This record gives sequence, structure tokens and C-alpha cells, in this order.
Amino acid sequence: MTIHSSRENHGSDWTRRRFLQGLGQGVAAGAVSGAGLDAARTAQAEETPVEGRVRHRQLGKTGLSVSEIGYGGHSWSYRRVPDGDGYRRVTIDEAVEMIAAGLDMGVNFFDSCTPELESTIPGEALRRLKRRDEAVICVRPSHRMKGVEADKKEVYQWTEDRLRMWQIDCIDVLLLSNVANVTPQSGYWDMSYSIEAIDKLKQQGKIRFAGFGSHFEPKWFFVAFQKFAAHFDVCSMPYNIRHRVAEAVMPAAQQAGLGVITIKPFARGSLLANRDLAGADANLPGKMIAFVLENSAVDVCLCGFHTIQQMKMNFSGSWMRLSPEDHARLQQLAAATPVLRGEHAWLEKGWCYA
Ligand SMILES: NC(=O)c1ccc[n+]([C@@H]2O[C@H](COP(=O)([O-])OP(=O)(O)OC[C@H]3O[C@@H](n4cnc5c(N)ncnc54)[C@H](OP(=O)(O)O)[C@@H]3O)[C@@H](O)[C@H]2O)c1
Repeated sequence: MTIHSSRENHGSDWTRRRFLQGLGQGVAAGAVSGAGLDAARTAQAEETPVEGRVRHRQLGKTGLSVSEIGYGGHSWSYRRVPDGDGYRRVTIDEAVEMIAAGLDMGVNFFDSCTPELESTIPGEALRRLKRRDEAVICVRPSHRMKGVEADKKEVYQWTEDRLRMWQIDCIDVLLLSNVANVTPQSGYWDMSYSIEAIDKLKQQGKIRFAGFGSHFEPKWFFVAFQKFAAHFDVCSMPYNIRHRVAEAVMPAAQQAGLGVITIKPFARGSLLANRDLAGADANLPGKMIAFVLENSAVDVCLCGFHTIQQMKMNFSGSWMRLSPEDHARLQQLAAATPVLRGEHAWLEKGWCYA
């Protein structure tokens, strides 16, 4: 399987070249050639798809075998389940049903962000199901990289809180994350104190692996790869049919020895809004995930969903294969999606070539 930058179906070549020129020659060379791709991981991505089974990939150098599609944490915390005239959250009983069905399909990677429900709901569901051992649990201490001594205390506290909320003794992956302008005085990427905390937490057996990512602009990933990659195992960035700058970042992540976890395959639902998902575009969610998974640099694609039906649609991306017509349709939809504003404007600003 080839990486996207070498596929002819991908448009925006002139904007991609312009972007790469802006990043510098070294990065551009990696992005264009796909250098750093690991043969074993590429072969793994070629594993024959089986309907109803979500395939696994190796998570970077961690040695963890993870489902190539993972449970997005927002699935449990956002009020998005249709309920009469309004919306409600997924209940714990629904979460138990969804997580049992997902585990049976092979899905073992769980992400969790700031809202407590993103840890407490799946944590309780796994306890009830007695299936914690099957799960790979990832937590994201958000906005804890201010480049000051106090970062350590915050990372320790966050870890203790999440261990309790998930009802576990050890976190599999701890992902540092910030958003732009949280710490303008020290730069978003000053991870030095957080790294000290991570090293100690590893020694204490409270976390196994660590990474960083999320809302940063792409250029800061390259800075972090150079300065901090040796301390980390994975990184996380947005990637979908519209927001494709990650195609230039992922080869550099691989060269830095980091696994790749992607987020926002539907640009927080905006790529699916107003589509005929009960009719002509019934398979669209799976196809959008299949697009992400065609890129062999991706280890896990995290997606949000709010019903078991949505979840199963999304997981079908693991066994779906895209035709040239599918690619053309996805490109058409990507171009036709209105520019994101407000809370998700950061995706357009940094992660879209156009
Ligand atoms: N701080 C961070 O580091 C950070 C930031 C962002 C995301 N993440 C992680 O990445 C995960 C994925 O991102 P995300 O959840 O924000 O965005 P996403 O997966 O791109 O989009 C999720 C939204 O897409 C819609 N959707 C999903 N499946 C659907 C289906 N089958 N049919 C119709 N609509 C469907 C729903 O929209 P509606 O709500 O409109 O129904 C859902 O809320 C998160 O859950 C989180 O774990 C981490």
C-alpha cells in the first residue's frame, strides 16, 4: 500500500509543494519520497480485510498491537444522541453495549481527553465487562506544557485522576497536548518539565508509553520532532479528506521513530453534515475512514460516534476498499465542505492546503 503523497488521485499538488517549500528541504524530501516507511508496518496494512473485523497495526515502536480504528473519547462526553427534540449523552448501559460490540470486532484502542466522562464511562464499561486486559488506554493531559516547573505537578495530578477515573493501575499511553496560545510566554512546545514528569511516571509503573500532539500548527511538530522525539513513542495529529497537511508531517514523524495516531476523520462531523447517509451516501463514514487508513503511516485513526449504528458504520472503514470513483467523490465532498469556523477554525488554519 502506498502513502497518499504518491497517489495520483490526490489533488492540491501545487498547494502541497508550496507548503513543503515553506517547511524546508529536509522535511519536503521525506514527505515526497515517503522515506522512513517501515516495511513490516506496510506489509501489516496489507493484511486481508475480513468483514466485521477491524484489523490491527503496530503502534510505532511500542510493540503494542492496536486496532487501526479507535474509540474517540468525545463519543462518551458530548450530548449528540438524538432524544426527542434535543440531544443527550450515551448512557453507561449503551456504552457497555457499544464497547462489547467493538471489542468483539477487534477494536481495542481507547482515547480520552479532558471531560471526565471520557474516562469514567469507558472505564466503568470495561470493569463491568471484565475486559480491561483487552484495552489499550490513552489519556491526554491537556494544556500542561507551559514550560514551567509546575507542569510536573499538573501532569502527576492528571495521571492520578485518570488512573482513578479509568479504574486502572497503569495508563498505556499518555499524550501531552496543548492548543495554540495557551502558553504564549513559553511557546506551545516547551515540554521539558513534562518530560521529567513522564520519565518519573514510567519509573513508577504508572504509564507505559508517551506522546504529544493535537491542536498545534504543523510547523511545531517539526520543532518537537527535532527537540523532543527521543523522549516519546507516538504523536497525534488531525487527518481527513479535507485536512491533509498531515501527509507532509507523518513521514517526518516516522523518521523520528514515532507512531502516528490521527484524529478528526470527519472534521468533527462537518464532512458528513447534510449528506444522505440513509441513502446514496450510506457508506460515506466508512469510506472517509478507509481513506485515512490507506495511508500506511497511520497507526490508529480515532473517530467519534454517538450510537452503535454510527460506530459500526465507522468501523467498516477497516474492511472497505475505495475505488477510483470513491476517491473522486471524496475529493468532491472535501472541496464542497464549507470552511470551518469558530471552535474548529484551527483545522482550516493549519491543516488544510487550500
Ligand atoms: N485534545 C485533543 O487532543 C483532541 C482533539 C480533538 C479530538 N481528539 C480525539 O479524536 C477523536 C475524534 O475526533 P472528533 O470526535 O472530535 O471528530 P470526528 O471523529 O471527526 O467527528 C465525530 C462526529 O462525526 C459525526 N459522525 C461520526 N460518525 C458518524 C456516522 N456514522 N454518521 C453520521 N455522523 C457521524 C458525529 O457528528 P454529530 O455530533 O454532528 O452527530 C460525531 O460527533 C475524539 O473523540 C478525541 O478522542 C483529541
